[in-house]
Amino acid sequence: MIVAQITDTHIVHGVPDADRRVADLARTIADINALDPLPDAIIHTGDVAHGGRPEDYALVASLFAAARAPVYVAPGNRDHREHLRAAFAGGPCRATDPSFLDYTVEDLPVRLLALDTVTTASNKGEFCADRVDRLIERIDADSTKPIAVFMHHPPYVVTVGPDPLNFTSPEAMHRLQHALQHAGRVIAVFCGHVHRSTGGWIGAIRVMVAPCTATTLRKGDFPQALRDRPIYHLHRYDPAFGFSTEARIVAMADDDDASDARSGARGAAGLDRRRHPAEHRFER
Ligand SMILES: [Fe+2]
Repeated sequence: MIVAQITDTHIVHGVPDADRRVADLARTIADINALDPLPDAIIHTGDVAHGGRPEDYALVASLFAAARAPVYVAPGNRDHREHLRAAFAGGPCRATDPSFLDYTVEDLPVRLLALDTVTTASNKGEFCADRVDRLIERIDADSTKPIAVFMHHPPYVVTVGPDPLNFTSPEAMHRLQHALQHAGRVIAVFCGHVHRSTGGWIGAIRVMVAPCTATTLRKGDFPQALRDRPIYHLHRYDPAFGFSTEARIVAMADDDDASDARSGARGAAGLDRRRHPAEHRFER
């Protein structure tokens, strides 16, 4: 089982890099579509649209429609619950309850559980007693499979970046941590929000944070040649070892042109092979 994770696309009209954000998402989906094998699911861990406007979700929905794997979204602090739900209901958003956008994808070897950590009172995450009850109920609904949770806010102390606490209070984060460890079935948590690639632990649960898909908003130090290339995470599940995570650098159109020329030469020399898109950059 393979899960591709994208996050923090921040699609919005009327900003100088608006077109770039759209292109970053479109290129990332195209790159995922070219994977062999295809992922079993694509998860988006929130901040889909920067201002939560319906027209921005409509644009994202048109890009998601090109994906060759099912897409699932969890809301971020920049999203608008009702507009997101209206754009993606029954497809990328399977939530049916009017209060929170949380749901479970049940048809894979690992249950994928989307959590809603959003509050309109803050850009930080919240996890109230109601959400604790809902999470525990979902965990208890099936004791036969492990669970991977995806959500926007990282539920651990993130030591890179300006603010280590990404919840409204340590108590809110601890409530969520405690609930995630209920029954010992959650094996991984996938998040966004801090716009950089990092990770941590909640007890024995691995937490991975994917970098921002919008390259203009991405944090971290990258060489110039990689600054316009989206990076996303591939989480591969092995029943014996759990998840391993790989960062993928998105291929660009000029890579393909150069690749075609090179693979022609290779084919003639009997050296052709399928190559990782990220290899293109370093092969000169
Ligand atoms: Fe964000």
